[in-house]
Amino acid sequence: MRKKTVRDIDVRDKRVLLRVDFNVPMEDGRILDDLRLTAALPTIDYLREYGAKVILCSHFGRPKGQVVESLRLAPIAARLRELLGADVATANDCVGPEAEAAVGELTPGDVLLLENVRFHPEEEANDPAFAKQLASLADVYVNDAFGTAHRAHASTEGVARHLPAVAGLLMERELDYLNRVVSVPERPLGAIIGGAKISDKMLCVRNLLSVVNVLVIGGGMANTFLKASGLHVGGSLVEDDQLEAASSIMADAGSSLYLPTDVVIADAFDADANAQTVLADAVPDGWRIMDAGPESVAAYTVALANCKTIVWNGPLGVAEFPQFAKGSEAIARTLAAHSATTIVGGGESAALVRETGLTDQFDHVSTGGGAFLEFLEGKELPGVAVLLDA
Ligand code: 3PG
Repeated sequence: MRKKTVRDIDVRDKRVLLRVDFNVPMEDGRILDDLRLTAALPTIDYLREYGAKVILCSHFGRPKGQVVESLRLAPIAARLRELLGADVATANDCVGPEAEAAVGELTPGDVLLLENVRFHPEEEANDPAFAKQLASLADVYVNDAFGTAHRAHASTEGVARHLPAVAGLLMERELDYLNRVVSVPERPLGAIIGGAKISDKMLCVRNLLSVVNVLVIGGGMANTFLKASGLHVGGSLVEDDQLEAASSIMADAGSSLYLPTDVVIADAFDADANAQTVLADAVPDGWRIMDAGPESVAAYTVALANCKTIVWNGPLGVAEFPQFAKGSEAIARTLAAHSATTIVGGGESAALVRETGLTDQFDHVSTGGGAFLEFLEGKELPGVAVLLDA
């Protein structure tokens, strides 16, 4: 079902609450990749051009309902000012008197960025009173946060029950593409799932088994699978409470599932740690798996060779440390050179593709990580379902 978009409503002189996903990779206050900011610009520009008062709302990180100084949105506001070439006002909160006063100051075309909405526990609880409070700041709600559309939170779902609610241009673009290419993919369909959010992705991996033809597991998640298959993984990142789930997935997946056969290990979780490449069954005590080795990437390349569609979410190793990004870079090159339709989603993998200069050789770089995976699983995204039908 298509959804109404900003183009279908009158926004002139209206206060528009624009939910964006500015959950960007950041290190020491420095934005490592601003794809999620640049991707939101078309909607912001559109709203400004049509005379709306733009109230931006986003989460950043997982502050668990508390104010965490390092998760304030100030660095994001600064970058946004540069990108827009215009002022972006800020408020110290996303609801309450400060937010209301900041909204009251806006004139048509102005932009305000509210503070991290996850500083309030009511956000993730999708608390109805909190959603109503957010809604009271605006006349119209626009959801452009495709990356967060799989979360039924107050700012992505609850708020839409109180205001006319439509999709932004990024949301529209992502849904159009994924509906066209991913809903009924050309097969064989391959998926590479990596990254560190293991428990988040375990259920997704289980669901993907019935959807994909080739499934490559990498990153922190692969360690849990390796341990579940009886291998010694030394001091590697493992979620022990997911071992049983991993065993059962492996039993069901059979030969369609690929795990690393060789790994790059380190003697510390550090960019400059000592490193060596060993077979996956030879990780010594005191060492930890940090990346997939060259033999693994070569095997994945062969396994994916006949695929007509390949989706990738999450790096194969600790890609923020250059010496442990090589597996991810190699798989990025494999996909860039592949004739299949290639789609990469998720902050870290998208950033890696950008850094390696390969963006143009992918068919689609999605701003969604978890949202993109849940779409692939065939799930309805709550942040989309609640928007007005076209
Ligand atoms: C993401 O980065 O996938 C989205 O911003 C959602 O973040 P979350 O996994 O913390 O809900």
